Amino acid sequence: MNVGDERSTSFWMQEAEAIDAPPLTADARCDVVVVGAGIAGLSTAYELARFGRSVIVIDRGRIGSGMTLRTTAHLATALDDYYFELIRVRGKDEARLYHDSQVAAVNRIEAICRDEGIDAGFRRLDGYLFAAEDKHRADLEKEYEACRTIGIDVAWADRAPVPGIDTGRCLRFPDQGRFDPTRYLAGLVRAIRQRGGLLYADTVHVHDKEEGNEVEVETEAGARIRAGAAIFATNSPTNDKVAIHSKQMPNRTYAIAGRVAKGSVPDALVWDSCEAYHYARIQELSDTEDLLIVGGGDHRSGEENDMDARLAALEQWTRDHYPSFGGTDYRWSGQVLEPIDFMPFSGRNPGNRNIYIHTGDSGQGITNGVAGSLTIMPLIIGEDSRYAPLFDPSRKSANSAVSLGEFVRGQAGAVKNLAEYVGPGEIGSPDDLKPGEGGILRSGLSKLAVYKNENGSVITRSAVCTHLGCIIHWNGFEKCWDCPCHGSQFAVDGQVLNGPAVQPLAEAAD
Ligand SMILES: Cc1cc2nc3c(=O)[nH]c(=O)nc-3n(C[C@H](O)[C@H](O)[C@H](O)COP(=O)(O)OP(=O)(O)OC[C@H]3O[C@@H](n4cnc5c(N)ncnc54)[C@H](O)[C@@H]3O)c2cc1C
Ligand code: FES
Repeated sequence: MNVGDERSTSFWMQEAEAIDAPPLTADARCDVVVVGAGIAGLSTAYELARFGRSVIVIDRGRIGSGMTLRTTAHLATALDDYYFELIRVRGKDEARLYHDSQVAAVNRIEAICRDEGIDAGFRRLDGYLFAAEDKHRADLEKEYEACRTIGIDVAWADRAPVPGIDTGRCLRFPDQGRFDPTRYLAGLVRAIRQRGGLLYADTVHVHDKEEGNEVEVETEAGARIRAGAAIFATNSPTNDKVAIHSKQMPNRTYAIAGRVAKGSVPDALVWDSCEAYHYARIQELSDTEDLLIVGGGDHRSGEENDMDARLAALEQWTRDHYPSFGGTDYRWSGQVLEPIDFMPFSGRNPGNRNIYIHTGDSGQGITNGVAGSLTIMPLIIGEDSRYAPLFDPSRKSANSAVSLGEFVRGQAGAVKNLAEYVGPGEIGSPDDLKPGEGGILRSGLSKLAVYKNENGSVITRSAVCTHLGCIIHWNGFEKCWDCPCHGSQFAVDGQVLNGPAVQPLAEAAD
């Protein structure tokens, strides 16, 4: 079970070719074990298998059914957090190198599609950033100057290709990309298997240890994998309790998709400058129709439960900006992890020699995941990695205090959560819930997560997140429990959908 089992389904999930893989039932040995079969894990497994390493990939759900199937798959080298912010926090040299990593990631995807014959609809196209409000125009000026300073190819355009409004002057980033993530992951899996790699679905990592030159990954069903190295590409690291989780925070983001007449929406990536910014692209459907995919509406995970209003606002934005939009066929949500200094954490896990992690993807997790594979693979085969110092999970983000108001607010949210232990519940009894709803109930000193099924039966679990003990919150859209502290998600019966938690919610005490 994983986030693929949340209620909403993305366009990609509906058309995904099922990737069959058995669960792991016996102990196994390999050069490298990869935990997590999303873009980051499969890309790294592919690079290692190509290099002749024996790899085993395990996933707690179906292969390739995690956050990567909830993406909108812009392959952007433009930065959603803005390069002028990145320069402020990490300096010009690191910002330049970061841009280089994103270019390398898009190039790598293109090369893998070509070399492995993967028909993932990879396209090169321009990306446009426009000001949603006049007051944001100064940010575009700053971004233009920052990009020019570090040598990024960017130009002014008179307007963005958004048919419904005149966006005014905007920034154009050439040579961005887009693809179909389901077809790409399926192609990676084929290529890994052709090189002898093994994949196991429904196989949950619960424990790991490093002894000498060997790492052992223990699975929930008891089978153990021994390897020379382990990579945790679980979106949010399940091998680490604190070190990384205090340096990133979880945000929910939303996407909708609907049909448009072919040619009515230009083929481009488009972003606006709102704080919870909108992002748009098309995907070919047929000779006469494309699918317009639009995202936005972000908020700190677990802190809002107004998803219907957010999705309605996203639909209205889409109609205003793309008048040919024929209505919403797909609605979904997912979670991104925002790192404190705008860059992912990819490399050796703090304190380990042969355990590696990839996380902290921000809204650019596809390119960051591939950049992570280009970082971790050389480290494992004992070569230099250009990006390793940049993405080092142990890095001290010295300058991050200068900017990260949002991050500080996020951490304050975690502290506020502790106060919920002593506050009242949201409901007085399960009778206060309608079928299909969940709420937090106080019971003596405990907080309980109560869900009422459509048939009226009630499921009650402890409301204490099994990661570090924050109180979980109801997500009415996905019908699951979200932890605002570090982003764990739990099904209504308490099973883990997404880490960092590994253990299910406890049974409610009598
Ligand atoms: C709505 C939305 C739009 C987005 N748009 C873009 C975009 O346009 N461009 C972009 O670059 N990025 C975008 N992103 C971000 C990007 O899609 C993600 O960051 C990225 O796909 C994450 O990939 P991953 O491999 O790290 O995680 P995942 O795809 O989630 O893979 C991790 C895997 O680990 C498994 N796992 C977890 N715990 C365990 C365990 N204990 N044992 C075994 N397996 C485990 C999970 O089941 C999962 O399959 C978007 C995200 C969302 C939600
Ligand atoms: S995810 Fe860390 S306490 Fe819940």
